[in-house]
Amino acid sequence: MELDISRIKEFNDDELKQLIEYDESINQDLIKAADVVRRKYYDDKVFLRGLIEFTNYCRNDCYYCGIRCSNRNATRYRLSKEEILDACEQGYELGYRTFVLQGGEDVTFTDEKICDIVSAIRSKYEDCAITLSIGEKSKESYKSYFDAGANRYLLRHETADASHYGKLHPESMSLDNRKRCLYNLKEIGYQVGSGFMVGSPYQTTDSLVADIRFLQDLEPDMIGIGPFISHKDTPFRDKDNGSVELILRMISILRLMFPYVLLPSTTALGTISPTGRELGLQAGANVVMPNLTPVKYRTQYELYDGKICTGEEAAECRGCLEKRIESAGYRVVTDRGDVAKN
Ligand code: 5AD
Ligand code: FES
Repeated sequence: MELDISRIKEFNDDELKQLIEYDESINQDLIKAADVVRRKYYDDKVFLRGLIEFTNYCRNDCYYCGIRCSNRNATRYRLSKEEILDACEQGYELGYRTFVLQGGEDVTFTDEKICDIVSAIRSKYEDCAITLSIGEKSKESYKSYFDAGANRYLLRHETADASHYGKLHPESMSLDNRKRCLYNLKEIGYQVGSGFMVGSPYQTTDSLVADIRFLQDLEPDMIGIGPFISHKDTPFRDKDNGSVELILRMISILRLMFPYVLLPSTTALGTISPTGRELGLQAGANVVMPNLTPVKYRTQYELYDGKICTGEEAAECRGCLEKRIESAGYRVVTDRGDVAKN
C-alpha cells in the first residue's frame, strides 16, 4: 500500500504503523514534508530553554533511569535557592527567556520550597516563562506552583501502553496516575509538555501508535521525545539504545500530526549521534535546551550513559548550540517562544 503523507492526520492505526515501520527510502520525503510544515508555523526559528537540573535525588525507581533511588553509585546533589537564581541570572544574560527547573522527585523540595523558588524567579524575571519538570504531584501542589508564577510543566508519559508502562516502572507507578497528572496540569492552565522515549525496552510499533493517539487526546503544547540510552547502573544496562533513524522519523511524524507543537531536539539525540540535534531540527524539531546547571554537578545528573554537554560552561554551551542551529539552516531566537496554537 502506498501512503499519502498529506493525509497523515486521517491515518488509521494500520497506516500509522506502516509509516512508523517504513524503510529508509520514505525517511527523506517525510523529513522534507515535516520541514515545510515547521517553516509554515515557525519559520526558521529555534527557541532556547535554559535547563537547570536542580536535584538528582529521586524517590522513584524507574528501570531505565540512572538517578533511580536504588542506584547506590549515583552521587546525589541539590542546588540551593541561591545557586538556582545564579543559574537563571547567567541564563538571562545569555538571552534565555525560559527557565526549565528539572529534577527527580525529591521530597525535601516541599511545595513551600518550590513555591518560594518559583516566586523568587517570577519577581526577578517578569518577562520569562518558568517551566517545572518535577514529576507526579497532587493537583493542589500543581496549583500552588502555578499560583506562585510557574507557566509550563513537562511530564513525559513515557509510554501510553499500560502493559509497556508496567515493564518500565515499578508497581507503585501507573500510567493512569501519570495521565491524571497531565490532565490536571492542563485544567489548571499550564502549557503542558508530554512525550516518550523512542526505542525503550519492550516498545513495539503498537505502543508508538498508542503514544500518538494519547497525544491527540491530550493536545499538549510541547512534545519531548528522545532515544532510550542504557545506563550501566540500571536493570536495563544491557538493553539496546534507540536508533537515530526511528527517532527522526517519529519527530517528523509528530511535526506533521501536531503542526503547532514545540518539539525539542534533545540532548539524548545529540548523545547517540554527534550531529543528532542538527538532524532533529531538520526533521521538524524547533526547540533546544542548553544546559544551565553549574558545571560541577553536571555529570551527576546522569539519566543515561555518555550524556553530552557535561563539561562546558553555560556560555560555551550557548555558543556551541548557536553554531549547530545555524549549520542546520535555522536561526536562534531569544523570546519566550510560546506555542503557535492560539
Ligand atoms: N534514556 C533516555 N532518556 C531517559 N530518560 C530517563 N532515563 C532515560 C534513559 N535511560 C528521560 C525520561 C524522562 C526524561 C527527563 O529523561 O523520558 O522523562
Ligand atoms: Fe552544550 Fe554543545 S550544546 S556543549
